[in-house]
Amino acid sequence: MAEKQPPQSEHFTLIDERTGQRYRQSLLNGTMGPPAIDIRNFYHTAGVLTYDPGFTSTASCKSAITFIDGEKGVLLYRGYPIQELARQSDYMEVCYLLLYGELPSPAEKDEFVRDIKHHTLLHDQLMHFFRGFTRSAHPMAIMVGVVGALSAFYHEDTDIYDPEQRMLAAYRIIAKMPTIGAYAYRYTIGRPFVYPRNDFSYAENLLYMTFSVPSEDYEPDPVLVKALDRILILHADHEQNASTSTVRLAGSSGANPFACIAAGIASLWGPAHGGANEAVLKMLMEIGDKRRIPQYIARAKDKDDPFRLMGFGHRVYKSYDPRAEIMRQTCYEVLEALGLRDDPLLELAMELERIALQDEYFVERKLYPNVDFYTGIVLRAMGFPTRMFTVLFAIGRTVGWVAHWKEMISDPETKIGRPRQLYVGAEKREYVPLEKRPSPGKRTWSRFWGGGGEK
Ligand code: CMC
Repeated sequence: MAEKQPPQSEHFTLIDERTGQRYRQSLLNGTMGPPAIDIRNFYHTAGVLTYDPGFTSTASCKSAITFIDGEKGVLLYRGYPIQELARQSDYMEVCYLLLYGELPSPAEKDEFVRDIKHHTLLHDQLMHFFRGFTRSAHPMAIMVGVVGALSAFYHEDTDIYDPEQRMLAAYRIIAKMPTIGAYAYRYTIGRPFVYPRNDFSYAENLLYMTFSVPSEDYEPDPVLVKALDRILILHADHEQNASTSTVRLAGSSGANPFACIAAGIASLWGPAHGGANEAVLKMLMEIGDKRRIPQYIARAKDKDDPFRLMGFGHRVYKSYDPRAEIMRQTCYEVLEALGLRDDPLLELAMELERIALQDEYFVERKLYPNVDFYTGIVLRAMGFPTRMFTVLFAIGRTVGWVAHWKEMISDPETKIGRPRQLYVGAEKREYVPLEKRPSPGKRTWSRFWGGGGEK
């Protein structure tokens, strides 16, 4: 393991200014990044909670998988820079690295790839689940449902406290995600499902299962295979993001791992997270013309307008997202290879980026393009429909979810995730029988749900 022992812990004193009471808390040091105040006993000793909506200052766990330095734009998987992995590695190797902590030897890699391929097929009964959805269903909705349904197929033999069964569950889900993702898409366009081909690599198989038709031969284009493999690498993990934290939280109760991954997929779908790649493309198409960019920049800055510049900003990165830089390069390469160099959407995206990066609002708030800004343009050029973008993100991220789930289950410090709250509701009051309640006058639905309407 590349994991280093952290230095001896130091202390951090918190003072209750109401009483002058001092609380000397241990300071935990990781191998890199800021230290963390250990407040596990704080409520017990001080009788106060800490308040941190969105966990902006909270380390929810210890983890040895991925490191991000958001100020410097650094992203490391198990210590290896993302740029190196994107350039020299492949997705299967990165999966092994994330799961096992080390790069595999040639024999270990062969065995791992063989073991994953062994699980690419879906149980024939599971195929019926797809047919329960409407053809217009979003593939992410299908994915949430079908991955959740996997828990029914592998429940009795998934003892999460048995390491071998944990491994089996991990391999099964990593192997089946491309099959499920491709079928979710094929179902919506009425194409028959094609079985995975285990002579293909992970990315080749994903392209094959998505785009081939049973009546014709299909040879995956090496340019597209390389680009897709790189996209999967870039999305493989990103420490405690919303979907990964969801998987950890769901898993902390001892829940079935397939159900936990389904929860992660649901969380990823939102436009502030993995759904942003789809939203970016929609936004670019809506802008449509460089001359309309200032109008959209103005909307993004207007606090009364919910519109945000999609593909811009990140909770952790306060400089250029290193994944975005690699994606921009990949975008040029793919468009060049496909003869689409003059893609108007790419031109529009570059102009939007240029204008935003010079705008005081974005500069002050350190809002830079994130991984999703260029991903959509590449995926569209590769032939993926917009609705598949987040599905591909989910496929790539599955290994990260699984690695974190496994790390959490094996961590002796893990407890069921159970945040506290600052209660701001009504104080204790007496129940009033229905007939004695005064009429509220004009009742508006917006009183409960927000918004300006009245019903
Ligand atoms: N457009 C306009 N303003 C923005 C944007 C944006 N894309 N992102 C942040 N801001 C503003 C925000 O309004 C706030 O302004 P103020 O300080 O005046 O209130 C300030 O910047 C800080 O933003 P925040 O909302 O406090 O930051 P956050 O860490 O809570 O949100 C984010 C991070 C990614 C949800 C947000 O930047 C965003 O909504 N971006 C657009 C969606 C997007 O591209 N998401 C993909 C993220 S990367 C892929 C992944 O890992 O999922």
